[in-house]
This record gives sequence, C-alpha cells and structure tokens, in this order.
Amino acid sequence: MSDQSPTTEQTLSNLLKEDRRFEPPAELAANANLTAEAYERAASDREGFWAEQAQRLTWTEPWTQVLDWSDPPFAKWFVGGKLNAAYNCVDRHVEAGRGDKVALHFVGEPVDDTRDITYAELQSLVSQAANALTDLGVDAGDRVAIYMPMIPEAVVAMLACARLGAPHTVVFGGFSADALASRLEDCQAKVVVTADGGYRRGSASALKPAVDEAREKAAAQGHDVEKVLVVRRTGQDLGEGGWDDAVDVWWHDVVDSASTEHTPEAFDAEHPLYVMYTSGTTGKPKGILHTTGGYLTGSAYTHWAVFDLKPETDVYWCTADIGWVTGHSYIVYGPLANGVTQVLYEGTPDSPERGRWWDIIEKYGVTLFYTAPTAIRSFMKQGREIPDQRDLSTLRILGSVGEPINPEAYVWYREVIGGGKTPVVDTWWQTETGSIMISPLPGVTHGKPGSAMIPIPGVSADVVTEEGVSVGNGAGGYLVLTEPWPSMLRTIWGDDERFKETYWSKYSEQGWYFAGDGAKLDDDGDLWVLGRVDDVMNVSGHRLSTTEIESALVSHPAVAEAAVVGAKDEDTGQAVCAFVILRESAASQADDDGEGDDIVKSLRLHVRKEIGPIATPRQIMIVPELPKTRSGKIMRRLLRDVAEHREVGDVTTLADSSVMELISAGVSSGKGED
Ligand code: WTA
Repeated sequence: MSDQSPTTEQTLSNLLKEDRRFEPPAELAANANLTAEAYERAASDREGFWAEQAQRLTWTEPWTQVLDWSDPPFAKWFVGGKLNAAYNCVDRHVEAGRGDKVALHFVGEPVDDTRDITYAELQSLVSQAANALTDLGVDAGDRVAIYMPMIPEAVVAMLACARLGAPHTVVFGGFSADALASRLEDCQAKVVVTADGGYRRGSASALKPAVDEAREKAAAQGHDVEKVLVVRRTGQDLGEGGWDDAVDVWWHDVVDSASTEHTPEAFDAEHPLYVMYTSGTTGKPKGILHTTGGYLTGSAYTHWAVFDLKPETDVYWCTADIGWVTGHSYIVYGPLANGVTQVLYEGTPDSPERGRWWDIIEKYGVTLFYTAPTAIRSFMKQGREIPDQRDLSTLRILGSVGEPINPEAYVWYREVIGGGKTPVVDTWWQTETGSIMISPLPGVTHGKPGSAMIPIPGVSADVVTEEGVSVGNGAGGYLVLTEPWPSMLRTIWGDDERFKETYWSKYSEQGWYFAGDGAKLDDDGDLWVLGRVDDVMNVSGHRLSTTEIESALVSHPAVAEAAVVGAKDEDTGQAVCAFVILRESAASQADDDGEGDDIVKSLRLHVRKEIGPIATPRQIMIVPELPKTRSGKIMRRLLRDVAEHREVGDVTTLADSSVMELISAGVSSGKGED
C-alpha cells in the first residue's frame, strides 16, 4: 500500500494508495442530471457551456458577452446582463405556481420549535424585510452586516439585501465583538441585522451585546453604524443600557408591519452581491467579493449537478452555518435558485442528545445531505450505535466539504450514514471560488475514498510544480485553476493589490489562480487535496503532506481523528508529530488496561506499514480534543507550538480556547508521549 521512494523533485510526496472504488448506483446513473459527455462539451466550448448554465436563471436583460477577461485577474461575466438574485431565489418559483411548496423546514434547537415556510411566505417575508431596510435608509450599494443565529430571518435578511442590491456581509454568530467590529469597519456597514440571541447547546446565547460593543469599537475608529435591526429570538434580557432608541429597532416592529409587496430592481451581472471575510495566514481578514450573475450561475449549477438535484422530490439539508461561504452558496443562493425544499437547523449536533441530526433526517425524509469531515469524525468517535437507531434510508447522496475527508471517514460515512448505498461527493472549493470546483458527479464518476476526483464540467484545474509544470499522474504539487470561472471572487474588498498578490502572483506568467492548497494526482489521474501548503512538512528533504499521514492514522480502528505537524528535529530537519483522538470504545479500553503506550506503539507501526518509514511519527500524543477554528478546520499552527515546546500563539479564532490548555497539560505531564 505504499510508495517507499518519494523523490525530492516532486513538490509533494505521493504516499497513500487507495484501491477501493464505488460505482454510481445504476438507477442514479440512468437518471443523472449530467452525463459523461458534459466534460468534453464543456472543455471544447467553456464559455458556451457556462452560458448554457446561466440560462438556469431568469435574466431581466440578456448579456452581450459571456466573459470579459481583457484585464486579468479582474473578470467580468455575463457582461451587460441584468437580474435580481432574490427574485431568482424566491419570486420566480411563486410565479411558476410553486408558491405552496415548502422552501424551509426550520428546526430550532429547542425540541418541537419548528416552522415550515413556503416559497409564497418567503416572498412576503423578503419583501417586508426589503421595505423595512429601505425605510432604515438602505440603498443599493450600501453594505449591511448580518450577525445572526441560524433562523429563517437570517436567510430572509440576506435575500432582502440581495433584493435591494445592498451587499451583505454575514459574520458568523460565534465570532467576538472584535471580529465583528473589524468587519463592520472594513466594509463600512451602514446597518447591522442581528437577534437578541440564539439557542446553542441547550441554552440561549446572547448576540446583541456583542453588536453594541462592536458598534462602539467601530465608532472609536471613525465608523458609525446607523441602525441595528434586532430579531427577538430568545426573549432574553438585553441588560442595562442594552437598547439605544436612536439606533436599535425591533424586527417585529418594522418588518412585520411592512408591506408584503416589493418590486425587485434588476442589477448588473457584476453588481456586488456580498462580501465574505475569510482569514488569511497572516494579517487582517480578507473581504472576498462576489458579484451577482456569475456567482448565482455557479452556485445554482453546481448544486444541481453535484447533488444530482431533483427539485420536485428531494429534501436537502446542508449543516453549515450561514456565517460561512458554504451556507451562502449551498443553503441560500444555490438551493433556493433551484427551488428546493430544505432543512434549516439552528443548533448543535448533540443537543439535546447525540442523535439529533439523525432524528431530523428521519423526520423530514432528507435525501441529500451535506456536511463537514470534522462532524463525520466526531460521529465516528461516538460509534455507530447512535445513527443505527434511526431510519436514514431516504438518503441518496452524501456530500463533504471543508477539509480533506480521510478515506476511513469517507467509508464510515457511506456505510453507516448512507447504508452502504449512497455515493459520497467530496467537494473541493473555497470562499474565493464561490462554488464547487472539484468533485465527483454522483451519477457519472465512480467514488474513491479520500479523493475529490476531477474538476466538474466547466472547471479547469491542474497540479503543478513550483515552476508551473504539470506534475502528471502519481505525483504531488500545487493546486491551480487554469481558466476563469463565473463564481470566482472579483477582488478583496478595498484591496485590489492584495487580491493580485495573494492569488495571482505565484503563476502570473501563466495567468493561473493559485489556491494555496497542495494536491496530488494518483495513478488514475484522480485528484487528492493534501491540505494547505503552509502545513507541508519537510522530513529529510521529503515534502510530506499532513493529510496523508493523518489518513493513515485514522485508518487504524482505534483512532477517530488525527492532526499531524512537523516539529524541528536535529537529524531530519523536521519530524512528524501526531496528535490523536481515540474512538470512545478504544479510549475506555486503553484507560481500563493502562494500555496507552501500547496504542502509541501500534499506531507508529501502523503508519510505517501504511505509508513507509519516512512518515513514521517521532512522537504521538493521545489528546481529548484538537484545536479547531469555528468552521471546524484544525489549527495546526497551535499544535506546532506544542510540538516545538513554545508558548502557544494566538488562540482567539479557536472554537474552544480551553482546548489548548487541555492538550498542553497532557503533553507537559508526559501523558501519551512516545
Ligand atoms: C479546504 C470552504 C480538501 C481547502 C468551502 C480549501 C478542502 C479551504 C475541501 C477553503 C475538500 C475545502 N478537500 N480540502 N473537499 N474543501 N477544503 O474558504 O484547504 O472555508 O482551500 O471554503 O478548505 O476553505 P473555505
């Protein structure tokens, strides 16, 4: 199963081999939305293919040119076209006679707090919110920040902004007042839409006080937010001084009483739709700008193609938060443009108990399910008994996004959640790409655990060396996108230079977009994303990706999750250090038998066998948790600090900042060290 001789000419070593294959189910293949010919058709006439996809939308004014790429990297798609994004996501479905169809099955975290909203109701709500925002002074072009729990009003607020041509910037509700303040200031938000609080982990968690604090901080920097529109969700006390009559307005006072009639204006295809902040490796967050026509084309097309969407019968659920790009493209814009029925869930997977997600799938008969590897691995850790108690037989396609999915997690997802019959689509994309770029098509491509497979029709990607030469099959390098695509970011808000420098300077000669990820092509030419290039380790001159060693660890039956980092080493330059979370069954056994040391030994042997001596961890630490960002990505930078015995760096973007104390405490007491 291993390649023992990674050559140093390769940008990244190709370590793991995978022989498992899953063919598309026959019925799915027979009725697939796209067939194999689409790849060729798109490659031979890329712009024609995208023009065809743009026809999924309703345009008020047709475009005159598909792509203007005369001033790269600044693209213009569907030049001269005009449309309204909210009209496309809501009104046109009502006009087509589907007003009674449920758009959102809202599920609040408190059990039995549910609400179904039809497309006709959504149209009224969005119109009311658009009228209310207009009364608060919001005009086309003004920025509106949205800082909300996962409730229907969050979706309504986004669509109301889109309807008015006022770019929104959604800030994840778990972010601090500081993070909110810097975003308010960077995009000069005129209005903030928020709630008193939301329900998380069984209790009401406040949001409004953070808005007050952020507003003060922004004001101190010279930016005044004019109005704050507040949804009453929890009814919690806002505290002393928690309401400012000059600024704060209740949603139920101004939205509920507003007219349900609102005529949407058509905006230019390149009119800004939203700014989504994403953290760079250094410095302040980047405001990724997406515009209207190309973005909506990309999100609607990919949602239809990659999930093989049958809007009449499917029930779709994406568990992302609307504070992330996945929530934008695959809860709000793509699915609603396609007129689906979907679940919107407010809370955490384990509230009030660990089977909550599976209960929701069973209750609503969810057919298409989209989540992140971090969630899948946490369910693996708990064991299959919990999902096994529910009827998940309605599921027909499972999606994964956000991180590489280890082959073992992929197989577990397919077997345990998908009953061994559902294709898993491992979808690679970024905030910057706006929509899915690399993924299997479930009715066309076979599945291979751990591989995102090939670019979808219309997208052109490659894996190249530092110099920009294709690495070819069986080798690793840098992932690039070699042709522009409609949902591509247009710039970094207010910083064109940083936009050019960050994404387009590495391969400026070729005019390629550099994604910042490492990847490899296996012997079949299928693509494996190997993680951020900043995380690559250099062991005795071999460039090793964290992902493959982590996947090898996760393929051991005792392991649920693993994070690997390179730590300085006198002999090898860097050495592999692994942090491992055990499955609950294995962890209790290790505790009972005092066999922690044996597990560490067996894991080292396992990696050696799966990959080869070069990847054998110098050190393996058994830990209770891993440091993750709020969107579930492992923060390896902090683990490097631990592995190199440094003071742990900035932990402010961690979902749970106490995790690092737990890990450091375990390490310094020597527990789990090899
Ligand atoms: C990683 C999330 C491997 C990758 C949509 C990318 C993935 C970053 C995958 C973007 C995947 C996302 N396989 N890695 N299927 N999907 N990534 O901006 O490193 O939050 O560059 O967008 O997540 O994260 P972002």
